Amino acid sequence: MGNKLQEKTFIITGGTSGMGKATALLFAQEGAQLIISGRNTRRGKDTEQEINDLGAKAVFVQGDVRDFSHNQELVHTALQYFGKLDGLQSHAGMLGLGSITELEPSLWQETFAVNVDAVFYLLKFAIPELLKQKTASVVVNSSIAAFKTFPNHPAYCASKAALLALAKQAAVEYGPTIRINTICPGPVDTPFIHDSAAAFPDPAKAVENAGNNTLLQRLGQPEDVAKLCLFLASEDASWITGATFTIDGGVMAKG
Ligand SMILES: NC(=O)c1ccc[n+]([C@@H]2O[C@H](COP(=O)([O-])OP(=O)(O)OC[C@H]3O[C@@H](n4cnc5c(N)ncnc54)[C@H](OP(=O)(O)O)[C@@H]3O)[C@@H](O)[C@H]2O)c1
Repeated sequence: MGNKLQEKTFIITGGTSGMGKATALLFAQEGAQLIISGRNTRRGKDTEQEINDLGAKAVFVQGDVRDFSHNQELVHTALQYFGKLDGLQSHAGMLGLGSITELEPSLWQETFAVNVDAVFYLLKFAIPELLKQKTASVVVNSSIAAFKTFPNHPAYCASKAALLALAKQAAVEYGPTIRINTICPGPVDTPFIHDSAAAFPDPAKAVENAGNNTLLQRLGQPEDVAKLCLFLASEDASWITGATFTIDGGVMAKG
């Protein structure tokens, strides 16, 4: 156990799986107290239990990030249990697959609702509380899809690009108290990448290729990304804000 986030309170969306869950577990090991958001109650309760077993404190709040009221409840729960809020980790996301000509407008809207609107809602409720602290930090999980296209991912690429602008705008408006940064992962071994691979003719091959095509010859692990999130959330990153970090095994360097 470390103390990089000792008694700091964080809300983690997408905390029931993949990178959000790995981040929650790592933050707990560093002394953080956590509010975990997700729709799946079983996975949420399991995560809460795993964190409590580490001797840390977590509260799972079930809900859909598209709901304005869920984001409000996350902030209220942080204040109710821990009396303050020191940071956000926004990991919830969805793919909304389909080419522009095939994609139903409702799926486009849903993708933006989860990937972009929800981050706006959470920032909207959380910022007044974050500003009460001496320092606070926000990490928004975007994707290399903000820079690089993937077949049948127009809603995903566009929504992830929107997050970069939203986070940068917020960093300018709410500094110096709140540091706000974006991470852009490449292929990471979570259920999400297998769903994403469904957009390719041979999904299993697409996942295998995604790992092999990195400079480091493997898929990222959720824990690789959690370590970057910890760095950005901690005082080690006290002079970093408004920045975007690719963590992709070198995919973007390859072009
Ligand atoms: N894996 C990759 O290769 C990759 C690469 C770049 C970026 N990303 C981004 O990384 C983030 C985390 O994804 P992951 O790879 O860790 O995938 P994951 O394991 O499938 O996790 C996705 C998380 O998002 C939550 N979520 C999705 N829709 C939600 C909604 N409407 N309301 C509340 N929670 C919702 C899920 O919780 P419930 O199921 O409990 O609702 C789950 O905890 C996403 O934003 C994704 O776009 C992933």
